[in-house]
Amino acid sequence: MSDTPNTSLGPRHFDAHAEIYDRGRPPYPRALWARLRELDLLRPGVRVIELGAGTGLATGPMLAAGAAVTAVEPGRELADRLRARHPRATLLLDTAENVRLPTSTFDLAVAATSVHWFDLDTVLPELHRALVSDGCFAVWRNAFGDPNVPVTPFREQVERIVARRGERDNRPGPGELDTDMWVDRLTDSGHFEATHIEHFRWSIDLGTDRIRDLFTTFSDWRPAEVDEAASAVRALGGVVTEHYLTPLIVLRRA
Ligand SMILES: C[S@@+](CC[C@H](N)C(=O)[O-])C[C@H]1O[C@@H](n2cnc3c(N)ncnc32)[C@H](O)[C@@H]1O
Repeated sequence: MSDTPNTSLGPRHFDAHAEIYDRGRPPYPRALWARLRELDLLRPGVRVIELGAGTGLATGPMLAAGAAVTAVEPGRELADRLRARHPRATLLLDTAENVRLPTSTFDLAVAATSVHWFDLDTVLPELHRALVSDGCFAVWRNAFGDPNVPVTPFREQVERIVARRGERDNRPGPGELDTDMWVDRLTDSGHFEATHIEHFRWSIDLGTDRIRDLFTTFSDWRPAEVDEAASAVRALGGVVTEHYLTPLIVLRRA
């Protein structure tokens, strides 16, 4: 049935929609990359372990900054796209929980819109072992909707769709904008301490097809709901300005 919930796929949702993911997800904000360079986390020669790399949305800018990136991605379709686009990255087809990483090897670990899928009880000690003694773990996530911006006509429609479905967020962990709780989750075990927390606000104009692609990539959106969102854009003239938020949490190895 066309309205079979995407939710049953959980994290495999992304691999099942790899091509759409690749063209639908907008890039991370430039200010985020500038901050990572400013904090001296991203620099030529830095050795990065990236967990849940997808099609390489974050891998590309890190390689461009001169980093040596080892990308861990369990989804075969996603990984194939990453490999084709970023042949300089070392690719490990595995989960963050199962991957065997060398000890004291990486300067920086990165999880870009992926940490909520990990079993942190397994992953945090493993990263602690794989990072050099003063290594860092940078966690960020695109939240597609900024609650601080007045609600746009398109967002009214989105809110209506979400309200109608009731509770159905299959993404584990605290809410995407509950940064304090994420900091607690990431530091509780004592392996890491938070050193920098920042929220990047940005906006982007998206047309009907782009909204259709982007919303298809959301693991908690059904196809019929995506159709409805795309129709709303069409009715609003074919392009909407979307306001997004990207929380960044930088942790230092304790
Ligand atoms: C929303 S996507 C983000 C992908 C990419 N980092 C980006 O910024 O576009 C989440 C990614 O996490 C991956 N993932 C899910 N569970 C995982 C796990 N246990 N270990 C590693 N990656 C996982 C998915 O396959 C997917 O590529």
